[in-house]
Amino acid sequence: MECYTTVTKMKIMTSPKRAGNEPKAIELKKGESYAWCACGLSSNQPFCDGSHMSTNITPHVFVAENDGTHYMCMCKNSKGKPFCDGSHNE
Ligand code: FES
Repeated sequence: MECYTTVTKMKIMTSPKRAGNEPKAIELKKGESYAWCACGLSSNQPFCDGSHMSTNITPHVFVAENDGTHYMCMCKNSKGKPFCDGSHNE
């Protein structure tokens, strides 16, 4: 019996890439599920596009609690992920 092993090169990120220097206003719908990009590599900020697959970081999946405009963290350092808490100013 032959055995195959897949070796994947994983990029270990000790901190996420900053995707922006200020929050991004996004309309969310109550009850809908979203995947916020936690690694900062997505081309579809602030949402995940799968670019994290080569890293040790995974998206932050959440369900919107309210309809309306939400200010999404782009610096990836918010303690209130996925929403901005002003950490981009630090
Ligand atoms: S692309 Fe950044 S978490 Fe998925």
